[in-house]
Amino acid sequence: MSSQAEPRVLISHKEIAVRINQLSSEISNAYRDKNPLLIGILKGSFMFMADLVRVLDFPLEVDFIGLSSYGEGKESSGKVRVTHRPGSEVRDRHVLVVEDIVDSGLTLAFLREYLLKKKPASVKLCALIDKPDRHQVPVTIDYLGFTVPNKFLVGYGLDWDEKYRNLPDICVLDG
Ligand code: IMP
Ligand code: MG
Repeated sequence: MSSQAEPRVLISHKEIAVRINQLSSEISNAYRDKNPLLIGILKGSFMFMADLVRVLDFPLEVDFIGLSSYGEGKESSGKVRVTHRPGSEVRDRHVLVVEDIVDSGLTLAFLREYLLKKKPASVKLCALIDKPDRHQVPVTIDYLGFTVPNKFLVGYGLDWDEKYRNLPDICVLDG
């Protein structure tokens, strides 16, 4: 076995579920009659997206975009690459971007520009976690789950080198 530290629970799956329920009422109020297109950023948002749409009880569509700015380390390379394009038509749609965690903000700055070129009716952002101390560019998060200190997190979809995505809780990876 490696000497990698054990992940330590920071936000439990129960706390996540409570917060997602609260977010869902805000999102429902804004989008109930808009047939929004929710675009999740792969891979990290897959679990958050699944739990979020399960509690949204109005017509909506789901798509994903693959964006990659990380290598195998814990720092952003600063360069964002599209690894999977969404199949949905974005033009004239109310788009809600679903993101796992905002770190430097570079991924979202890139995605906002990418989407705005496709002339959507609106683009807003729902992020489960924000690390405000890490922002390198301004980011507006319209629906935010949790603000956390500057720690590297894993679990609930978040990875370190593709590992730990299956943990049910959001954990801190020390070391
Ligand atoms: P940004 O472009 O620096 O804001 O990075 C955003 C992306 O980096 C997120 O979508 C995550 O996939 C990844 N990321 C940022 N912080 C963490 C973390 O603490 N754990 C795991 N992935 C992270
Ligand atoms: Mg990632």
